[in-house]
Amino acid sequence: IPLEAFDLILFGGSGDLAMRKLLPALYYRHRDSVTGGDTTRWRIVGLGREDLSREAYVAKVEAAARKFVAARDFDDAAWAAFAATLDYVRVDAREAGDFVRLGAALGDAPARVRVFYLATAPSLFASICENLGAAGLVTPDSRVVLEKPLGRDLASARQINEHVGAIFKEEQIYRIDHYLGKETVQNLIALRFGNTLFEPLWSRACVRDVQITLAETVGVEGRGEFYDNTGALRDMVQNHLLQLLCIVAMEPPASIDPDAMRDEKLKVLRSLRPMTPEDVATRTVRGQYRAGAVDGRPVPAYLEEPGIPPGSRTETFVALKAELNNWRWAGVPFYLRTGKRMQERLAEIVVNFRDVPHALFPSLSGERAPNRLVIRLQPDEGLELHLMAKVPGDEMRLRPVALNLDFADTYHGRQWDAYERLLMDVIRGKLTLFMRRDELDAAWRWVEPILEGWEQDSTPPRPYTAGTWGPAASSALVGRDGLAWLQDS
Ligand code: BG6
Repeated sequence: IPLEAFDLILFGGSGDLAMRKLLPALYYRHRDSVTGGDTTRWRIVGLGREDLSREAYVAKVEAAARKFVAARDFDDAAWAAFAATLDYVRVDAREAGDFVRLGAALGDAPARVRVFYLATAPSLFASICENLGAAGLVTPDSRVVLEKPLGRDLASARQINEHVGAIFKEEQIYRIDHYLGKETVQNLIALRFGNTLFEPLWSRACVRDVQITLAETVGVEGRGEFYDNTGALRDMVQNHLLQLLCIVAMEPPASIDPDAMRDEKLKVLRSLRPMTPEDVATRTVRGQYRAGAVDGRPVPAYLEEPGIPPGSRTETFVALKAELNNWRWAGVPFYLRTGKRMQERLAEIVVNFRDVPHALFPSLSGERAPNRLVIRLQPDEGLELHLMAKVPGDEMRLRPVALNLDFADTYHGRQWDAYERLLMDVIRGKLTLFMRRDELDAAWRWVEPILEGWEQDSTPPRPYTAGTWGPAASSALVGRDGLAWLQDS
């Protein structure tokens, strides 16, 4: 589908996210797009406080692209065409005068889509929006993209939303959660709502428990100061994990219109059973990694990473048990966990079905394995459906087997990065995969008692050795219900 003509104005244009993800994503889309380097249709303006010439900025972006775009995809001609669409303007987010200069650089093109991408600290969102408004840069066709974390708690998230909402209408605001742009997350929507097979099983009647794991092997990656102020609950649970939970648990929407989808996700967030102080003590586990080894390589403890204050109690691991107060899911535990420096990089959703009511057959190991659907989000994207099947031979013996759908085998070619899709959706004005204000509110509202409970608890997070699946208490959390994380079972 051809793109409309647009200007993408990138606050934080020299920052980590821009260099690592956004600009490489734009390079790919430009390389494969129909606009073919037509700079009258496609323009990217990087902004930053540094006094850089256009050439110096382009050189910086090129260096990053050479690092973050796969070598086989970096094509000199495509790069040159993309580079021609780049510009740079020095803008201090707090300086109103700089926005007048920005306006002059953008010129007068009211009919063009204008995307303001705020890849900066959220503390700057308010002044950026205010200054954009005051300089008259917000056209009817403007959109603003807000990167997470959107606030530190409910009150600060509301404040940001107020400020942004004073300048942009809700339908112009794109709150990004890049997990929703991942191919497999979209496939989960397809799996649930493009097939009849799963829906009749998709409830407390047949599902025993759901496990969602977002495990990373990386540590804080030079983002020590940011991370220490944030922690895993705010960094991963409040957004990515809860969004995945929504997609697993939501009712079928009437359409894929943005509000139809978002209404259903909101209902899930609102049915999350609120965490009491006792729940925080018994249903949540926070951990922090000690020195260990990841992929056979020794790695330091969190407290030894650059930028981490001595004795920090910031969590790098969270496991928790959530429940939904609604007819479909009452009594079904949703176990969520995420951590840095875990044993493997792995993002997966495991739906464990109930066991057969009566066992007819002896299995090989003497144990039955209930049916299980594993949705692998990354790496090795795919689906596995675990069933019991007969072992060939005389006897009626059963063994678990897996039907395995590996997306790399089924669909050849490069997969789009989440940011490629989401950026194109912003330009096309497609809000479905972005969070609405009330969703964000509901997510913070649920997370806040956990934050408060942890703040009041003077015990440090539970230590775990880097390169493992987290503290033993995480296994115990699931074990208390007679269950186990997939990796422990
Ligand atoms: C980001 C977090 O939102 O997601 C990072 O801030 C984390 O801490 C990242 O590493 C993980 O994303 P992905 O796409 O690599 O799984």
